[in-house]
Amino acid sequence: MSTDVESIIARMTLEEKAALCTGASKWTTTPVERLGVPEMFVADGPHGVRREPDIHAVARGSLPATCFPTASCSASTWDVDLLRQMGEALAEECIALNVDVVLGPGVNMKRSPLCGRNFEYFSEDPYLAGEMAVSLIDGVQSKGVGTSLKHYAANNQEFERFSISAEVDERTLREIYLAAFEKAVKEAEPWTVMCSYNKVNGVLASEHGTLMTEILKEEWGYDGLVVSDWGAVRDRVASLKAGLDLEMPGPQHRRVKDVVEAVRAGEVAEATLDESARRILGIVFKARQTPKGGTFDAEAHHDLAHKVASEGMVLLKNDPLPQNGRLLPLKDRQRIAVIGRSAQEAYFQGGGSSHTNPTKVDVPFEELQSRTEGAELMYAEGYPADDAFRQDLLDEAVELAQAADVALLFVALPARKESEGYDRADLDLTGQQVALIQAVARAQPKAVVVVNSGAPVAMSDWIDAVPAILQGWMMGQAGGGALADILFGRANPCGKLAETFPLKLTDTPAYLNWPGGAGRVRYGEGLFIGYRYYDAKQMPVLFAFGHGLSYTAFAYSNPAVSAQTFRDVDGLTVKVDVTNTGELAGKEIVQVYVRDRESGLVRPEKELKGFAKVALEPGETKTVSIKLDFRAFAYYHPEYKQWITEDGDFEILIAASAADIRHRLAVTLESTLDLPCILNAESTMREWMADPRGSQAFGPYYAHVAAQIQRRFGGGDGEGGGIGLDAMDMLGDMPLVSVLMWQKDTLPTHPEDLVEQLLAQVHDETE
Ligand code: BGC
Repeated sequence: MSTDVESIIARMTLEEKAALCTGASKWTTTPVERLGVPEMFVADGPHGVRREPDIHAVARGSLPATCFPTASCSASTWDVDLLRQMGEALAEECIALNVDVVLGPGVNMKRSPLCGRNFEYFSEDPYLAGEMAVSLIDGVQSKGVGTSLKHYAANNQEFERFSISAEVDERTLREIYLAAFEKAVKEAEPWTVMCSYNKVNGVLASEHGTLMTEILKEEWGYDGLVVSDWGAVRDRVASLKAGLDLEMPGPQHRRVKDVVEAVRAGEVAEATLDESARRILGIVFKARQTPKGGTFDAEAHHDLAHKVASEGMVLLKNDPLPQNGRLLPLKDRQRIAVIGRSAQEAYFQGGGSSHTNPTKVDVPFEELQSRTEGAELMYAEGYPADDAFRQDLLDEAVELAQAADVALLFVALPARKESEGYDRADLDLTGQQVALIQAVARAQPKAVVVVNSGAPVAMSDWIDAVPAILQGWMMGQAGGGALADILFGRANPCGKLAETFPLKLTDTPAYLNWPGGAGRVRYGEGLFIGYRYYDAKQMPVLFAFGHGLSYTAFAYSNPAVSAQTFRDVDGLTVKVDVTNTGELAGKEIVQVYVRDRESGLVRPEKELKGFAKVALEPGETKTVSIKLDFRAFAYYHPEYKQWITEDGDFEILIAASAADIRHRLAVTLESTLDLPCILNAESTMREWMADPRGSQAFGPYYAHVAAQIQRRFGGGDGEGGGIGLDAMDMLGDMPLVSVLMWQKDTLPTHPEDLVEQLLAQVHDETE
């Protein structure tokens, strides 16, 4: 059997090539038996393998596979090694279940906490999401199994996801919505990239030539295949021309026919079809190199899922008690009232295509019981499965809490509230759950709340009433044991938030532009999502991005940078000593944010550009070293159409969270870029003076212009003045030609000719 892709393409008929570019079934690509081209099997993704046993069955149902914690939780580990291990385990399950490519990870940004699919996405920050994706992809692909980086791009809500147009400006797209894709593509080379359903600035992602061909394939050098999200293709010919290699699912005989006819009619070059066929064959044969079958170690993977959950759960609050000490970890030998259905029915995954059939599920209550040493556990349901109000359950819970030393409240969003296909309408727990927390906390001030949700919930109505809160996320099948370990202090919490927890929905960045209407959603907040928004608005939040407590404490000292002044291409290394000052071993996540003190275009107050997770024994100190590269200081300039750096002062912020900056270091950047001059006929006088070539060319006229302006507008009661303004300031923002028109009689050349000459001068110099 030949795997020489070029010779296979040369021998394929037009019909065979068109058929190859569309799936054969829900989960398989089209084989070409006579040429030895096998089918390729894909399955969801992203945090467990959803392998349907029968690819033609209408009914759903999948083979048992490990359900790892969903991305909100895995990202909160900030642990790239762990994500890599999770990727390896996913690949082992793919191999055992005969799957060539797992459909994940998802790196869409959490633009609003309401997005129904946020549990499947890593973060509100593109750097963190990108790092997590790179590790997961590396892990999967190191075992010879492929991934599908999804959903490309700007798929940040479920509302009208098949049709809505995300209206997003180019700079925001590059810096926020594409950046994690770019990092993952460049650093981890996912075998496939999945385009999203929605439109981006009016064009369907499945027909978006700029996104798929110009940016992904040409600019980022991507050489895998682009697959459609399931059912995202409307016009197969248009999508093929735009760079969509593989349409899924199949079969789609009509689409194949359309492509054949379009090639015959000369509407699509055969070379375009060949290129897609080449990309698909390349991956199909790559997948073939990994023999499939066998079994996977379900116990070991369950343990790994436990580890990820335990490292991703976030201790949000653990206030000192009036009687001294803190509530968590729980002490043994006390009576513990375990309240809440989710203690018995683990809430560990969300709805939709990522929903897996777990190999087993740890029940939190049972896991707590198995770890008690002398503690007595009692249980009350607290709330029903739906959002009904049940006073009897409330009363029972309060009674139990009163009789106990501590109340452990388990709350979770009702099943089906967090899912693919629709968004949440609010950030709220059910009314019954809120009433339950309030009533129990009144009866038993020693109350811990464990929240299971894939995204933030509002807590303002009860947060002050409880001393301790643990965010348990959608914790995967082994999360129950991980929760028990943390609650009893068998594990020290070490996760930090990969997204901001807002105080209330109306505070959130996209609130006024969510979820859109009339076919469009305007990304009006631009670059300012997540902490970038709260920073800029100086708004308080419930819990900041990067926040997470430990049972021990960490001190930061000896901050240092490798150079005070540095060139962008050389980057910078940031170092800091971290000491565990408490009595328990623990892990700290050190975050490095970069702040540009002054920039040509507005920038966020600070942006995450590096991090490290470090394990420390009590009393131990380690030096953490974090490298910052060119991109850490650059921003995307829509006029230069590239990432640029500017000379100037920056601050390096070494932080324990976005709201807990431990050290600030001043550095100076020297840009090595030789940027082209972008002055044009519309450029303002201020822009001419700010540009080195512009000020050189226009400079000789400037004094004259200023004197004329002074004469005409003066100040106070001067001739022509008296209209109460600063004329230089006003005229500075006018196109140069318009400024000159005011005084054309005083100039030797007509302003239009003069500006033309000046433009020729500045652009000639750049040639
Ligand atoms: C989802 C994808 C998923 C695909 C296959 C789509 O509806 O958006 O994330 O991989 O279905 O199940």
